[in-house]
Amino acid sequence: MKKETSVRDGLRQLPIRPVYLVSVEHEGKKNIISIGMFAFFSGKPTLVGVGIAPARYSFDLVRQSGEYVVNVVDEELMKAVRICGRKSGREVDKFELAKLTPVRGVKVNAPLIQESPVSIECKVVKEVEIGDHVWFIGEVLAVHVRAGYNWKDGLLFKWIGEDGFYYKVGEKTGKF
Ligand SMILES: Cc1cc2nc3c(=O)[nH]c(=O)nc-3n(C[C@H](O)[C@H](O)[C@H](O)COP(=O)(O)O)c2cc1C
Repeated sequence: MKKETSVRDGLRQLPIRPVYLVSVEHEGKKNIISIGMFAFFSGKPTLVGVGIAPARYSFDLVRQSGEYVVNVVDEELMKAVRICGRKSGREVDKFELAKLTPVRGVKVNAPLIQESPVSIECKVVKEVEIGDHVWFIGEVLAVHVRAGYNWKDGLLFKWIGEDGFYYKVGEKTGKF
């Protein structure tokens, strides 16, 4: 039997989800934001989206430049995720603070994060203002993958009660 619970606690029962570092740049100002709100929107063309609250410094940079890069993170980048999810680029240079290196991509001006195993270059094709976030839906123009990378090393996060935790992928349980 199920019991009605608060919306917040109920939604915390959803399975775990990934966390990403999204890198942005406008007129030479570079920044990184930790993002959980990531979704696929279309197969052909390949469209993904990130949900960014208007109060974030990154929001202005994505809106002005119309570009972003989604960088997959692994356990080694957990500290960087904490920094980029707590500090604002208005006050600090997060590339410097998190010891991350910006490198040029091939399609967009926003930098890739060298230390990330997978970087996805996106160009914004639509903005959707909805609730307290704006979804920047972007066409995937290029993807860069580190040689030998195993997708199982990607970092996930989960709220349990009042605390947030990072996880790694579990076991395969069946065939699709
Ligand atoms: C695990 C995690 C997930 C987050 N997900 C989002 C998100 O999806 N959208 C968002 O706007 N902020 C999200 N945040 C909060 C931002 O990363 C945080 O407010 C950051 O300091 C904003 O930086 P900025 O002002 O430099 O853009 C998340 C933080 C963490 C730690």
